[in-house]
Amino acid sequence: MSKVSVVLGLNYGDEGKGKVSAYLAGDADISLRCTGGNNAGHTVEFDGEKVVFHLIPSGILNKGCDAVIGNGVVIDPKVLFEEIDVLNRLKVDLTHLHISTRAHIIFPYHIIEDRLFEELKEDDKVGTTIRGIGPCYMDKANRIGIRVIDMYSTNFEKVLRRNIKNKNKIFKLFGYDELDADTIVKDYLKYRDLMKPYVMDTVSYLHEALDNNKNIICEGAQATGLDMDLGDYPMVTSSNPTIGGIQTGSGLGCKDITDIYGVCKAYASRVGEGPFVTEQLNEVGDKIRELGHEYGATTKRPRRCGWIDLVALKYAVRINGVTTLAINHLDTIGKLGKAKLCVGYRLGDKVYTEYSDDIIGKYDKLEPIYKELDTDFDIAGLKNYNDLPNDAKKYIEAIEEHIGIKVKFIGTGPDNEDVIVR
Ligand code: IMP
Repeated sequence: MSKVSVVLGLNYGDEGKGKVSAYLAGDADISLRCTGGNNAGHTVEFDGEKVVFHLIPSGILNKGCDAVIGNGVVIDPKVLFEEIDVLNRLKVDLTHLHISTRAHIIFPYHIIEDRLFEELKEDDKVGTTIRGIGPCYMDKANRIGIRVIDMYSTNFEKVLRRNIKNKNKIFKLFGYDELDADTIVKDYLKYRDLMKPYVMDTVSYLHEALDNNKNIICEGAQATGLDMDLGDYPMVTSSNPTIGGIQTGSGLGCKDITDIYGVCKAYASRVGEGPFVTEQLNEVGDKIRELGHEYGATTKRPRRCGWIDLVALKYAVRINGVTTLAINHLDTIGKLGKAKLCVGYRLGDKVYTEYSDDIIGKYDKLEPIYKELDTDFDIAGLKNYNDLPNDAKKYIEAIEEHIGIKVKFIGTGPDNEDVIVR
């Protein structure tokens, strides 16, 4: 039987999905990205060097593991080849890298549009990563996107020049510099040739892998709160980083998926704008940021920090059908002395312990209801659940009690090895 394990973020990204992926990578034959693009980022230590991945699944570093960029991903070729250059320097075998024919390509005009569209939102900016992700997905939905396979078509140059011409009309209207079509065409013809050895029909490849009983890990990007349909719209990314996006972004069927790992932190963090009910805009938030090193891997922005929100977490577990829960940074919570867990929201005279659409647009009026626990413990690097002090166990049990499923992974330090697996 093949095994397909999916690793998903349950909050707003940056939950430490990489640690769970690294744990599962040992016996994976294939590691797969299905959604998003280089708005994601995670750092992996390899041969004593820190390697930051934005696009290529980190499983590429494991001998005998194929790395697949699925059809739901949007690819900036410049970033792709920067990562490939690093991997070449580290002598990583790249014959195992496969890129879907159907993935969409990010062009320089998408990055400019990302900045322009943010400006046009005036006071309602999303705080995007300005990597062109949203505009690329917009073109996909508008059926003017260019897929990997389209770059090998005879009318690629014609379509690209048409797109640049139309985008330039928009840039001119808003006082932006127009793009030079010749330069873009030249660069992308080069990227197209360089990409060729990696390009394949990854949907058929994955189906064949299933038939051959292979183990696949889907390395999720972003997270449930940023999901375009089920997250805090409009303060979201432009794809579906929830379980549905794994299927549409890969061609795997729902029956193929065997395990769904949901990852969150013992506290919460967010980059970019948008609601954050348990945010601590005070010295507690600052302390969490410093203790947890909460600065963006992609944009280096300081992350907004606050308490764990069990209402949102329960909703995320439900949406994704999470079978196994992973909680990172329990060691960080242990340095705070006391910590709060949000178990409900008060809105006027109503109390919500389950997520409800009643709260949409009223986030600033929500009053979180907290349960406070003592969290003064040093668990750095512990690997055995039974060695945890009682207060650390109580914290985990409080989460389990509210969510209704067991916590299997507990992060106890920054390294991939600092983990308790129950
Ligand atoms: P975009 O994905 O660049 O369009 O940004 C939309 C929102 O998603 C912004 O708030 C970003 O900060 C956030 N975002 C996108 N990717 C990630 C990620 O990998 N981790 C955390 N936040 C992300």
